[in-house]
Amino acid sequence: MLHRPRRLRKNPIVREMMAETKLSKDMFVYPYFVVPGNGVRHAIDSMPGVNHFSQDTLIRDVEKGMELGVNKIMLFGVGDEKSEDARSAYHDHSLVPSAVRELKKQFGDDLYVVTDVCVCSYTTHGHCGIMKNDYVQNDETVELIAKMGLVHAQAGADMLAPSDMMDGRIAAIRELLDAHTYVNTAIMSHATKFASAYYGPFREAADCAPGKGDRKAYQMDFRNPDEALREALLDENQGADVLMVKPALAYLDIMHNLKQQANLPIACYNVSGEYAMVKAAAERGWIDEQKVVMETMYAFARAGASIITTYHIRDMVEKNWI
Ligand code: PBG
Ligand code: ZN
Repeated sequence: MLHRPRRLRKNPIVREMMAETKLSKDMFVYPYFVVPGNGVRHAIDSMPGVNHFSQDTLIRDVEKGMELGVNKIMLFGVGDEKSEDARSAYHDHSLVPSAVRELKKQFGDDLYVVTDVCVCSYTTHGHCGIMKNDYVQNDETVELIAKMGLVHAQAGADMLAPSDMMDGRIAAIRELLDAHTYVNTAIMSHATKFASAYYGPFREAADCAPGKGDRKAYQMDFRNPDEALREALLDENQGADVLMVKPALAYLDIMHNLKQQANLPIACYNVSGEYAMVKAAAERGWIDEQKVVMETMYAFARAGASIITTYHIRDMVEKNWI
């Protein structure tokens, strides 16, 4: 036999040498949910191991993570005052900017802070923008999103992650940031964010489920890979620094295609429903959690993601899986 591929799988040493995909802690971003109050650490039922934190407990938990090498986080604000016009989303004293200021005061450049930029946790109706006649208004929302991004940048955020899916928001954010001299605040666009049932647990955690209707008039149709590429290239042209694919596991083809066709780093968001499924099956003893999680993370990297946002990273570092 001329070719025997099994030769290169003979033992762990040769298998390590031949591994085409590597993972490192540097690739991971850990999401946090910030709530009002003091001393709050409240478990989120559908996301075992993930909590709501108030600013004080958040800082302590971030510090613990940093000791283990989790030095990149993504912040979501939950439970700020809600209104039709989402005005609390861009107050500089609202949850996220306050937490960013405090985190930066404590940790400075030892911690890389990404903030979610979207208004759905701040609107009474739970949609990712301003509603008129049951329709989310694009251009009005873009103005809000840009203001919200600026407030986060002023608080010290290193990177903004707009997740609203309005058209033109990357250019609007970039322009406003530059006009205020925040030229080094990066933008990780949720460039291809699909209208997905995998967001279920998150919507409970972030209290952002749309009261009425769904998000299909702004998030993408999961049947459309060509449109995904168009979306991604638009954001690239508008000045995005990183293109994110969300959710992750059912969208590996999208990641792979963007990696080939776009000219920016690719990130993915391993979302709440993906996490909940693994946790639920592992709790029942139906799957080996460590093996399934690591196989999944390698799949993201293999598909082209160099940045992975995942709720699993704390387990991974605490249990020495990585
Ligand atoms: C809202 C938002 C969602 C997620 C992140 N930002 C949910 C949604 O669009 O309905 C999902 C994240 C997750 O499921 O982990 N802008
Ligand atoms: Zn939203």
